[in-house]
Amino acid sequence: MTCHRLSPSSGSVPGTLSCMDTTHSDTADRSLRHWSEAGRRTMDAFYELATQDYRELVAAHDWAGALRDQQHDGRVRLLDVACGSGKFPSALLAAGLADDLDGLSVEVDLLDPSAFSIAEARAVLTAPFVPADELEIGLEELDAGRAPYDLAWATHALYAVPPARLADGLARMHAALRPGGLGVVAHATSASHYLAVYEAYRASHAPEATPYITAEQVADGLRAAGAEVTVRDVRYRTGTDDPAVAEGFLQRCLFDDAISLEDMAAPGPNGQELAAYLAGCRDGEVWTFTHHVHLITWRAD
Ligand SMILES: C[S@@+](CC[C@H](N)C(=O)[O-])C[C@H]1O[C@@H](n2cnc3c(N)ncnc32)[C@H](O)[C@@H]1O
Repeated sequence: MTCHRLSPSSGSVPGTLSCMDTTHSDTADRSLRHWSEAGRRTMDAFYELATQDYRELVAAHDWAGALRDQQHDGRVRLLDVACGSGKFPSALLAAGLADDLDGLSVEVDLLDPSAFSIAEARAVLTAPFVPADELEIGLEELDAGRAPYDLAWATHALYAVPPARLADGLARMHAALRPGGLGVVAHATSASHYLAVYEAYRASHAPEATPYITAEQVADGLRAAGAEVTVRDVRYRTGTDDPAVAEGFLQRCLFDDAISLEDMAAPGPNGQELAAYLAGCRDGEVWTFTHHVHLITWRAD
C-alpha cells in the first residue's frame, strides 16, 4: 500500500492521506469483470481471431513429446496457469493429442481468479486431459504446498497480472515444478499486437490504465527467480474483413466494450495513438494484426 498527501488541487481536503493499493490494478479488475458470463460476447468475437494464436502455438512445439518426457507411471501432473476458457488444450485436442499420447493421462489443476474461466476450461477437457483441482486465485497467490508439478504452462495468459506482483507470481510458478519439471509461458512481446494496441489505447484514451505485462518482463521475472529460460520466436498474422468481428476482437483486446470501431479510428481525448495504430492495421475493409510471441521454456533444477 502506498500513500501520498493530497494537494489543494486534488479537490479533497488538502493534507489528508490518499492511499492506493499498488498490488492491485485497474487492468486486473477490468480483466476479471470481462472473464464472466457478461463478457461472453466479446470473448466469442475475440476468439474468432485469437483461436489462431493457439493453432500457431500448437504447431510451434512438440507438445506430445514434451508431455511424454514429463510423465511418470503413465501420468503427468499439469498446472494450467490462467487457464482462461481452455483454448490451448482445445487446440491440442483438435490437433490429435489424444492419439499421440497413447493412453497417457494428463491431470490438470486449473488456476484462474475467474470462476467463469475455470468452468469454461473444465468443460473442454477430454482425454488425455483429466480435470483435477480448481484454484480460484491469481498466480501471485499460488501456495508452495501445491507443488510438485511435472509441467506448468501459461499460454497467452499473464497480460493482466498486476505488475508489482509479477515477479512473485513467476517465482511461485517456478517453485511449483518438481526437479526436472518443465515450465512454459507463451506471451506476446512489446512489439506484438496485444501489447501495441493496449499501449496506443492507454496513450490516447486511458493514461491511468495499468500496462499489460510483456513477454520481455516475463522472461526477466523468470530469470530473477533462478530459471534458465530458452526463448523462441513465433510470428504470424491474423485478420478479418468483417467489421463486427474486428470491433469485438479489439474491444476485448482493450477490455473496453463501450468504444466502437468508429471511435477507435477517431482521435481520442488524449491523442491520436490508437487511431494511428489501427490505421496501420487496416487496408479498406481488411484488418490484419501482426503477432510476435515468445515461447519461453525452462526446466526446474
Ligand atoms: C486470455 S485468458 C488465458 C487463455 C488460456 N491460456 C487458454 O488456453 O484459453 C487470460 C486469463 O487470465 C486470467 N487472469 C487474470 N489475472 C490473472 C492472475 N493474476 N493470475 C492468473 N490468471 C489471471 C483471466 O481471468 C483469464 O481467464
